[in-house]
Amino acid sequence: MLLEVRDLHVEFRTRDGVAKAVNGVSYGVDAGETLAVLGESGSGKSVTAQAVMGILDMPPGRITGGEVVFRGRDLLQLKEDERRKVRGAEMAMIFQDALSSLNPVLTVGDQLGEMFTVHRGMSRKDARAKAVELMDRVRIPAARERVKQYPHQFSGGMRQRIMIAMALALEPALIIADEPTTALDVTVQAQVMDLLADLQREYHMGLILITHDLGVVADVADRIAVMYAGRIVESAPVHDIYKAPAHPYTRGLLESIPRLDLKGRELYAIKGLPPNLTQIPPGCAFHPRCPLARDVCRTDEPPLYEVSATRGSACHFWRECLDG
Ligand SMILES: Nc1ncnc2c1ncn2[C@@H]1O[C@H](COP(=O)(O)OP(=O)(O)O)[C@@H](O)[C@H]1O
Ligand code: SF4
Ligand SMILES: [Mg+2]
Repeated sequence: MLLEVRDLHVEFRTRDGVAKAVNGVSYGVDAGETLAVLGESGSGKSVTAQAVMGILDMPPGRITGGEVVFRGRDLLQLKEDERRKVRGAEMAMIFQDALSSLNPVLTVGDQLGEMFTVHRGMSRKDARAKAVELMDRVRIPAARERVKQYPHQFSGGMRQRIMIAMALALEPALIIADEPTTALDVTVQAQVMDLLADLQREYHMGLILITHDLGVVADVADRIAVMYAGRIVESAPVHDIYKAPAHPYTRGLLESIPRLDLKGRELYAIKGLPPNLTQIPPGCAFHPRCPLARDVCRTDEPPLYEVSATRGSACHFWRECLDG
């Protein structure tokens, strides 16, 4: 495994108490593989990624347990200067909001070039040539001219391509893309997602694709890990999930995918809201919203049951769910 997160726990101290944002998350991704991490807003997807990247806000955040094993080393044991060397060069992150991640007063060429002057000791001229090459790679038309422009002169989709170029610059082994297309129009979303998938194959990278939208991952992901209230509730190869979910929450997400033939109808099939993380319900955290819930669900927390060699579900009644 390129990256293996093992039993990760993260808490936040807030005025209302301790928010348990990540409660024993384990997932892994190999070189050349795409893992989609799926779940509603607030399920702990970004916090897990931030802990992996070493960019978690601490305080208020605190990692209270677990390991982040990357290329054989537990990153949580590294000193900050060693950690910094891993970041950018070996693993990079793409965020939802390119405009606030890019520097508004530097041209795109200077920002891309900086990756090579600072990290690779290249001359400005060579770095500029590399910047143009990268912009070509992420299919920005007229790269030679546009390299002199500022971020605000690009459309949202093009800016997201620049973010992807920044992440790719040092050819990292792993990229974490956190809702990379959420802010974009649907057609542009698909283009950016295709680009990301192509580059992932070309560079044989590991890719962790975080999204709240199951609709965007079908064609690009190998595996899906579904998060709820800071836990993985289902983990499986993407085709298994689409064929038949083994967790009622995954089923709800599948039924929430917008479909063109149902335009205008209620899209969201899961009733209720995710729990307050300072007061996660006992038993199965999903029980207040679950159509299959019964007494045992209110008291006994489901472990991640082994559904198959490559699939797990944290539902006491996963068989029933699989059978529809
Ligand atoms: N900086 C922060 N301060 C306090 N609580 C935070 C902070 N960041 C995240 N959290 C808590 O962690 C939860 C999970 O956040 P996050 O991982 O960002 O969710 P998502 O799945 O939408 O990416 C939030 O709902 C919030 O309770
Ligand atoms: S354990 Fe019970 S409440 Fe939780 S998802 Fe399964 S059936 Fe629903
Ligand atoms: Mg998030």
